Formats: sequence, C-alpha cells, structure tokens
Amino acid sequence: MKKFFTTVCLSLMLPLGVFAQGGMWLPSLLQANQKDMQSKGARISASDIYNETNPSVKDAVVLFGRGCTGEFVSNQGLLFTNHHCGYGEIVKHSTVDHDYLTNGFAAKSKDEELPCPGLTVTLLQYMKDVTDEVLQGVSSSMTEQQRSEKINKNIETIVDNTTKGTNLNAYIKPLYYGNQYMLYVNKIYKDVRLVAAPPSNIGKFGGDTDNWMWPRHTGDFSVFRVYANADNEPAEYSKDNKPYQPKKFLKISLKDKQEGDFTFVMGYPGTTQQFLTSYAVEDIQNLEDPARIKLRDERLKVYNQAMNSSPAQRLRYASDVASIANGWKKWQGEVKGLKFLNAVEKKKQQEISNSLMPQFKQIYDENRKYKMEQLYITEAVLASDFMQNTRRLLNLINASMTDTVSDNELQTKAKNTLYSLEAYYDNDFKQHREVDSLIFVRTMIIFYNDFAKDNYTFLRYKVNTVKSAENYFAQIYGKSILNNPDKIKKLLKNYKRKDYKKLQDDVAVEFLSPIWGQYYNSTALHLKDNRNKLDSLYRIHVAKILEEYKAKGNKDVSMNDGIFPDANLTLRVTYGNIAPFKPKDGVEYRHYTTIAGIMEKEDPNIYDYVVEQKLKDIYYNNDMAPYGDRVAFIATNHTTGGNSGSPVMDADGNLIGLNFDRNWEGTMSDVLYDKDLCRNITLDIRYCLLIIDKYLEAQNLIDELEIIK
Ligand code: ARG
Ligand code: GLU
Repeated sequence: MKKFFTTVCLSLMLPLGVFAQGGMWLPSLLQANQKDMQSKGARISASDIYNETNPSVKDAVVLFGRGCTGEFVSNQGLLFTNHHCGYGEIVKHSTVDHDYLTNGFAAKSKDEELPCPGLTVTLLQYMKDVTDEVLQGVSSSMTEQQRSEKINKNIETIVDNTTKGTNLNAYIKPLYYGNQYMLYVNKIYKDVRLVAAPPSNIGKFGGDTDNWMWPRHTGDFSVFRVYANADNEPAEYSKDNKPYQPKKFLKISLKDKQEGDFTFVMGYPGTTQQFLTSYAVEDIQNLEDPARIKLRDERLKVYNQAMNSSPAQRLRYASDVASIANGWKKWQGEVKGLKFLNAVEKKKQQEISNSLMPQFKQIYDENRKYKMEQLYITEAVLASDFMQNTRRLLNLINASMTDTVSDNELQTKAKNTLYSLEAYYDNDFKQHREVDSLIFVRTMIIFYNDFAKDNYTFLRYKVNTVKSAENYFAQIYGKSILNNPDKIKKLLKNYKRKDYKKLQDDVAVEFLSPIWGQYYNSTALHLKDNRNKLDSLYRIHVAKILEEYKAKGNKDVSMNDGIFPDANLTLRVTYGNIAPFKPKDGVEYRHYTTIAGIMEKEDPNIYDYVVEQKLKDIYYNNDMAPYGDRVAFIATNHTTGGNSGSPVMDADGNLIGLNFDRNWEGTMSDVLYDKDLCRNITLDIRYCLLIIDKYLEAQNLIDELEIIK
C-alpha cells in the first residue's frame, strides 16, 4: 500500500485540464514539487520548507486556534495572524474604557500583553505516512463496518504508542478517502497572549461589502505571543512562563514585488472537495447553495435593517452578521464560478466510462431529501434564537420522560436551561424580540414553501387551518411561553418532572418536536449510512483515478497539474506567482492595491469606509518610509478557509504578506480550481508594519523583527 502511494504521490500526474492546476501539497512529500517550484521561480528548497532534523519553515507555521493559521516572526514567540482570526480575543478584551476593537491596541512591553485563556497554538513536530500500519489486518473480504472498526483500532494503537509518556498530541487523518493515512504529531501551546491589533477601521476596512472581493484595502492582521515553560515546552498560563523560542521564525522582506514573482503559502486549509462527482456538484450548484443563499438573504435583510437603526444595534449583531454574510457571499461566487467553468459538464465528461457512476447516482438520489432536510434545519429552523430556545425546552422534556435520568440530574438540567434563558432574556430581549421574530417568521415561510409543505403533512394541515404560513408562524411566536419570560422562568425555577406536560403543550414545542424527532430518529441515521456508503465508493473511485493517471505517465505535465489530497485542516504548501486577472470581458485587475485606494473608498457616513484621521496624516504627510504605500496583492496560490493568517513567502522563504481571502470569482476553487480565475488575496506585510510602526507606534515590536530591506 505504502509503496504504491509513495510512487503515486511522487510521480503521479494528471493530463492538462483535468485539474486546472492549483494544489495543496503535503509538506513531507514536497521534494516531488521541487523542480516545478524552481521552474516557477523558487530559490528555497523543499527541504528548507519541511525538515525533521534541521529548522525549516514548518517550524514557524502554526494552527492558530481551531481554524486559522499563524507564523512566528521573532525569536521570542511573536506571532502574526489575521485580524478576523484574532477578532474574538480582541472583542473579549474590549470594554467601554478600553475599546481595543474600535481603537486598536499595542502592548508597549511584555507585561502589557493580554492573556487569552482557551486560545491554543498547535505546532507540528513531524508527519508520517502510516498507511501500512493503519491498514494492517484489513482485508478485501471484510464488510465496510469490520473494515472501519479494524482501522479505528489500529489508529488508536498508533496514536497511543506515539504519545505515551510524552507531552505530544497526535492524530491520524485519511487522505484520498482512506487510500492513504498520515500521522500528525504536535505540541499544543496554551499560553498565548494578545500583543497588538489595528483599529477595526483598518483591520476590517471594507467590512462585509468588500469581503471576498478584489481590489481590497483591508489591514487584516493581529499580533500574539506564545509563551512556554522554563524548558521552552507547552504549559498552562503562568506569570512565570517565558516567550517561546521557536526553532525557526520568518524574516520579513520589504522588497518590491512584481507581477510574475514566485510566492508560496504554508498553512492549514480546511476543506476542499476536488473529487466530487458531477451529481454532487450539480446538487451544490443547483440546490444546496441556492437554498442557503436565499435563506441567508432574508436573515441579512432583517439584521442589516436593525444594524442601520443605531450604533448599539450594529454592535449587537456585527459578529453574527459577519459570519452569516461570509458564507452567503462565498456561495454566490461559487455558484457563478461553477457555472462559468461548466464544472458539471466537465465532471460528466470524465465520468463517461466509469462503472461506479450508477451507484453514485443512486446514493445521491436517495440522499438528496435527507441532505436538504438537514440544510433547512440548520439554515432555517435553527436560525432564530426562538427555535434554539425551543430546542432547549425539547431536551428538557425528553430528559423528563426518560426514567434513567434521576430527579437530581433533571434539576441540574432545568437549572442549566434556566441559565441559558435568563442570559437571553436579561440581555436585550425587548429589542431583540422584534428582530428575532422577523428572522423566525421570514425563514419559516421560505422553509414552508420550498421544503416543508411537501415533506411534513402535519404542518400543511396546521397552516391550512389558519389560512397562511405567515399567520401560523406569527401565532407560534406570539403564543409561545418563550415569549413570556416571567412565566417560563418561574416554571423552570421550581421545575418538577411532571411539568414537562405543560411544556409539551406549548405551540413552539408542538411545532419543533415532530421535525426534530424525524431528524434525529430517522434522517440523521440515513445521512450517516449514506455518508459511509459514499466514503467507500469514493475510496474506490479515487484509487482508480490515482492508478489510471499513474499508468498514463507524466509526459510534459508539470507537477502543478498533479493530483493532491483534499484539504483537511492539516499543514500544506501551495505555490504560484503574483498575477493580475480578468474577472470579466473588458476588465483587468492589477495585482496590487495602495493606500490611495483607501482614500478613494473613504466615506465618513458608511461604517465600513470610515478612515481614521491618523492614517490620513501618515499618508498625506508622506510618513510611510521605509514601508511605502502598498496594501494588498494577489497571486495564484490555491488556498481555502483555514489559510487565513498563513504566511505568504517569496522565492527565498521571506515573509512578504499574510493570506486573508480569495477573489469572489474564484471561490469555486474548493471544487474546481482555475488558474486564470482563482487568486488568493494577501495583506502586503509592508502595510502591516506601517500600521504597527506609525499608527500603533509599537517600535518595541518592530525592533523584534528581522527585516530585510
Ligand atoms: N472571507 C474571509 C474568510 O473567508 C474573511 C472573513 C471575515 N471578514 C468579514 N468581513 N466577514 O474567512
Ligand atoms: N478568509 C478565509 C479564512 O478565514 C480565507 C479565505 C479563503 O477561504 O480562501 O480562512
């Protein structure tokens, strides 16, 4: 198995056009790309990027929190990542008196740095192909279930043997749908402190309006520091901890960057789905993305209206809206891009003589209604706090009806429910109720018309009795006990087991209960079952692809047209060149932006485009040396969510920017990459340093860096 795969990974290429370039490569196998990287302009070698004995770039790159990337930039554990990655921590440390979110923040000495309990930084020690060990004892005569039981057991043993008696953390992840397995061995640092952040007007400049778009002018960075114990090892927070000394930190280059320059990115891309069959792509493009977009559209309309009504309301919904709008906008770009590339047709062409296709089709056909039900539950039914709270009540009812839950446990559950509800009511219920009821009614009307009326008979009947879906859902909101804080709080305070009957009669519970019941008792099981069936089909499908292309040889095809395992939130390398692009006929976008563009976008009346006076002074007084006026640039690196904060490096491995986004026209790259359309968006490191130096006036931080002029 392993032999097969080492050769596959080293020499297997796809003919041009199958995967239109791109690629997120395994650092430990990067040797295979070396020639291709050099032909694109790299001077750094694969072994300087990933090395298990000598310090290499991989020792400077971390998983930041649970879904971003960061990189060390000094020998004292100083770490750069994106503003939107540090956002939660910046918010937590912001108060009316110290509003770091609005005004920015910079620690002028180490004792001003702010601890961030719960935040972790994960540093890969090494990775290893363990395919042979994981598949030991697995035979072709096993059922899928026997197979996965055996594999899970093997995985457990390998992980135990690796970590026993150490401070290491390890996990194994399948690649190519289980055709290959990789072991990742990490150290997890738990004492991480906030060091600096720009004001939101810089770190989030352009907000959701500019999100996913080029040309871009966002100073999307924040600065942290990792601390370790006296032995430079991971430790819980302590005053006595010392700045972590990384094996390697990145030097920063201020040199000018030209179109065509080689760049590479190392980081933690989350998910790609390059191997999806045409059926799946068709569903994404025609059913799933459109349904999600339509529902979020409705929610965003409600939130945006509220946010425009007062600054307090803006703050109240800002972070929820940022995440709702992020997916909403991405999916629109994805649908457009998939259509533009004719992705479904392209996939169909490749599938013509594939004997697995009827089986794929059958499972996708059967799974579609379950998948959509799940989508509507997450994107519609649970979109309102009202329904989230109803679900809490449902849990309590279920516990009350379960004999094995003791009275004591039940009391605890009731108390916890009360806590959550009190936090909700005592906050801003009176104001929020209007917004939340609109969210509930509007999303439920779409849910009813587009899905529920054909799938839940009970609901059709109920809606008919009150004439319209709008009436029905408005009544539910109005009549539910959840709309009566005093009553529900009182009930929960002195909760007795038999009280579940009172809750059971509630209109909201009556509505949610059958939907929830069907999902948990039936749909979720079907989904799991079909997931397993699909996984094993894809395993065979992808094994065949790997074999076929191996057999065809690799004449005249560069490694960059090769095949790579889908992103799975493990460390990867991607590379490309700085390049402009043409979003549509007659339009060409330059590869970089400058501060002049910030001044052009300035609009004191629009929240996303307010420019701080201090930044204007720096710009108009031409106080930008030695950094200059560049803000962001684009290149052909194949990145995805999770790559936020990743170091973008030059041909020598010097840091030249922080990855923070992709262009809207290229967001289909998670399914199908296209080198002409897909660009990663990078914050120019010079703008980041300009802000740290001249705006935040943190000379102490600049002094820590190693800057190449
Ligand atoms: N689009 C970027 C990413 O996918 C940035 C998101 C945060 N920014 C925002 N304006 N919502 O994560
Ligand atoms: N903003 C994304 C993130 O948070 C990166 C952009 C992308 O999806 O490529 O990881």
